[in-house]
Amino acid sequence: MGKMLNLSNIACRSLSVAVPIPERIVPLDTILPDEPLLLMGAGPVPVPARVAQANSMVINPLGETMAQVIDQVKVMSRYVFQSDTARILGVTGSGSVAMEMAIANLVSPGSSVLSIVNGFSSDRLAEMAERLGARVIRMLVQDGRTADPEEVRKHLERHRPKVLTLVQGETSSTVLNRYLKEMAQIAREHECMVVVDAVCTLSTMPLNMEEWGIDAVITAGQKGLASIPGVSLVAFSRLARDFIRNRSDRIPHWCLDANLADCFWRRKSYRYTAPVSGILALHEALRLICNETLDKRFHRHQCCSHALQAGIGNMGLSLFAGPRARLDSVVGISLPTGVESSRLLTHMAQTPIGSKYRGPSDWILSGSARWVNRAVHTTYFALSMRWAPACLHWASGSTFLRGSPRWKAPWVPVFLMTRRRMLCLAC
Ligand SMILES: Cc1ncc(COP(=O)(O)O)c(C=O)c1O
Repeated sequence: MGKMLNLSNIACRSLSVAVPIPERIVPLDTILPDEPLLLMGAGPVPVPARVAQANSMVINPLGETMAQVIDQVKVMSRYVFQSDTARILGVTGSGSVAMEMAIANLVSPGSSVLSIVNGFSSDRLAEMAERLGARVIRMLVQDGRTADPEEVRKHLERHRPKVLTLVQGETSSTVLNRYLKEMAQIAREHECMVVVDAVCTLSTMPLNMEEWGIDAVITAGQKGLASIPGVSLVAFSRLARDFIRNRSDRIPHWCLDANLADCFWRRKSYRYTAPVSGILALHEALRLICNETLDKRFHRHQCCSHALQAGIGNMGLSLFAGPRARLDSVVGISLPTGVESSRLLTHMAQTPIGSKYRGPSDWILSGSARWVNRAVHTTYFALSMRWAPACLHWASGSTFLRGSPRWKAPWVPVFLMTRRRMLCLAC
């Protein structure tokens, strides 16, 4: 008979551990606040319970169950991106990784790229193309303005780029590129592929990828889709797909190679271990959008945003972007005179109401009231909380705003603020 193995002896003999177990390990329950948690990124998002629940599950990254989930994600995405023929690929990573995937596959070293820049995210697309060795021409759009299609036409004629990059909604300046459809059309006439960042707009306002002739649309989980961060989507048009397939050079990033991504997203085989929970969460987020329908969702976002904008106006504050260039999903408020942005930033950094990142030229504090979209009445609740007067009152040290600010609000839905004197809310 073989010798029995004594496992307890093996466990006890583990004397090679030099660093002891930390003395104070705090359970997550103790760290998390009681109130509902928003995803406090650049535009806080209320993650629906169904999505959060899906995110807590684990399944086999390969196999029949995952194959079914992926098939559904692709089918539902085609509705959300409004394209029957798009090649949908999931990306393990944030929206920026999805941006890089679109750029890495469509931009070849030495080729020319025209980038419409209205802020931080659109500039990031330009930088990504530069890092790939492309010759990038930046078309800078004046603060708070929407890009002009005729200006784009002139740039296309002058520079003859192979790729045009732009954002539909620029979070950092709260600007909407209203004439996206027209600009895509002009780009097509100039045989230029169009890459659109729709991170904060997809499923909050119309974007018809196929009809408008867009070649790559990028989105992240945590913004318009109201899923979790870390799993994103890119949709490539037929033209883009052919371009990628026929490229003679090798795409420099193995992880971002769209041809290789087909292994998992089309052929259901191993490429790298898929972020299973994030994909399940994305499935649920897409399902909720399909259940609601895009039309109703657009309407809800618009109603909430307009109510929010009207409420902000009634507080005596003015909006940053002009009406023609104003994004509904992220609303920017001009800082009134007398409010010191550095004090406001300090205050916000000390309270759990926002997060701070460095913009191209400004410090930006970000957050949103996207959660107000869950129901129209919550928009009015957001306004009734009067967070803006509260913060501004504090920052100005004065009483320029009527009424007493309600500091005791359980959680504050806000914001985004730059040295350019702007505060932002998102819907
Ligand atoms: C319009 C837009 N594009 C891209 C990104 C980048 O997404 P992520 O932070 O997930 O990398 C953001 C995020 O703030 C954004 O608002």
